[in-house]
Amino acid sequence: MVEKWEENYFLLGPYFEKKASSEFESITDLDDSPAGRIVRRMREMGYAVYYGYWLVTGKPRVILFDLDSVTKDLDGIKYNLWERNRIPTINVEHLVNQTLCFGEMVRIFLKEYAEENAKREEIFAQFHEWMASSGLPDLKKDNAKIAITFTTHATMLGRYLAQNVDGFYSKLPFFDWEQEARNYNIVAQASIERQAALNAHVLTTVSDVTARECEVFLGRMPDLVTPNGLNVVRFQAVHEFQNLHLKYKERIHEFVLGHFFPSYSFDLDKTLYFFTSGRYEYSNKGYDLTLEALARLNWKMVQAGMDMTVVMFIVTKQPYYSVNPDVLQSRAVLNELQETCTAIEKEVGEKLFLATASGADHKMPDLNNFVDEYWRLRLRRTIQSWKTEKLPAFVTHDLKEEDGITEFCRKANLVNNERDRVKIVYHPDFISSTNPLFGLDYGQFVRGCHLGVFPSYYEPWGYTPLECVVRGVPTVTSDLSGFGDYIMQIMRDYENRGIYVINRKSQTYSQAADQLADILFKFVKMQRRDRIMQRNRVENISDVFDWMNLRSYYDTAHDLAAKRKKP
Ligand code: UDP
Ligand code: G6P
Repeated sequence: MVEKWEENYFLLGPYFEKKASSEFESITDLDDSPAGRIVRRMREMGYAVYYGYWLVTGKPRVILFDLDSVTKDLDGIKYNLWERNRIPTINVEHLVNQTLCFGEMVRIFLKEYAEENAKREEIFAQFHEWMASSGLPDLKKDNAKIAITFTTHATMLGRYLAQNVDGFYSKLPFFDWEQEARNYNIVAQASIERQAALNAHVLTTVSDVTARECEVFLGRMPDLVTPNGLNVVRFQAVHEFQNLHLKYKERIHEFVLGHFFPSYSFDLDKTLYFFTSGRYEYSNKGYDLTLEALARLNWKMVQAGMDMTVVMFIVTKQPYYSVNPDVLQSRAVLNELQETCTAIEKEVGEKLFLATASGADHKMPDLNNFVDEYWRLRLRRTIQSWKTEKLPAFVTHDLKEEDGITEFCRKANLVNNERDRVKIVYHPDFISSTNPLFGLDYGQFVRGCHLGVFPSYYEPWGYTPLECVVRGVPTVTSDLSGFGDYIMQIMRDYENRGIYVINRKSQTYSQAADQLADILFKFVKMQRRDRIMQRNRVENISDVFDWMNLRSYYDTAHDLAAKRKKP
């Protein structure tokens, strides 16, 4: 966007001091630009407004509003929203109040900006999500000279209903938005979303999947779909990505060694790492289907007498007390073991060298003589505390309560028994580099894995599979996710390239689980050479999702908004 609009591109957002201190660089000469002058005017009106650069790629100009400086007007803002737009916002939660303050600041800024500048330039405003858009309807009603595009990245009601109503998609055309919004106590949010959608010159959303929801819940079919992309250069490791896979896989090996080997061992060279990740929406994210398919995969692998092992990581966020002490303990013992072995190796090496260099009798020295008592004892003790009778934990943390994932694993007896070929590591926290178990950040962890598994039931877009693709990791998605739906539209041989799309639209749950289990089984049977080639093919797709290419959808939306705005 900065490339196209240069210094005429501004991002508007809320001001948070802590974030700003590391990501924001202030511009002090306000007269330098029309936007700067409006910032000054708003300050004169009594609002706290910050103007500067956001220190991300492209260094766009940002205008940040301190929401506290408008809180005093909140009652008036709410009165107005009801009077003019029939948006009820009494007794809403704090977060919604904050969005109303933000929406009002955005409205004032754009109104002032347009009054001063609309004569000499075309002004476009791109709103993302209801949280930014409570001021949008008034801008339209007050006839501000701005071409307005509203993009919704999901619908509030869709998220709630998909999670709670069986057969959501077949019932979709028949929902009454207002009644459902009351049911889930989200009337304010749903009303803002709806009014923003109805009043914008152009409505867009991120996928055809969500477009259908817009029609029902927002009362308007989107004018076009603006699919999500990434700044692909940030991910690209060009010729390095295969090496990075190996490097980070070895780090995952370390964790697996520490976690499983005290109970029993398996061949790490014949071990594959699968993972799924995202927020904890058990059925929306398809965790249920993934687990069901894994249970079936395990059965298939055991029946076939395979010597491969699959370790499945489930990475999400659930309330927990702390990391499971046993899991931490085995990690610590592993480190101790490693240290002891390295010390012995060094000692033996040095003494062996001396003995052979100085030895006159040309006899092979006995290596045992080179390890002194201290290290022998230390090694013996470490080995003793290493072995355990317990099964490796399938949850890495002490959860505050059981959830769908733990319930399923217990019920299906998928609890890391030795004979099982599919092992589970449920990590109920997002992964970051300070994580004591992996010591990897999320991106590195993804690179170290072999396959991402995301057969979502409700997923307006879904970045997780796309983030696999750009890192050269094959991935499973579903035709109910925006990403899966899009890839099916633009590419014929996606499966051959390492993107597997589960048919959740027309298959039953059990059929979909079978399809997924078959895909996983086939994947397990692949040779290393094939996996390497498949990683190349999937990484090759990346450019399709670069914003350099996908920006054009937004350009089209903005042009259309400008045309519609004309009297
Ligand atoms: N994610 C992360 N750390 C983790 C797991 C996930 O940062 O340990 C990020 C992931 O990179 C992705 C986001 O969480 O960008 C999830 O986005 P997605 O579009 O898949 O789902 P949504 O949150 O929109 O439902
Ligand atoms: C990368 C490396 C290869 C390594 C392979 C392991 O491609 O460049 O040297 O053999 O990863 O692949 P695998 O699918 O078995 O983890």
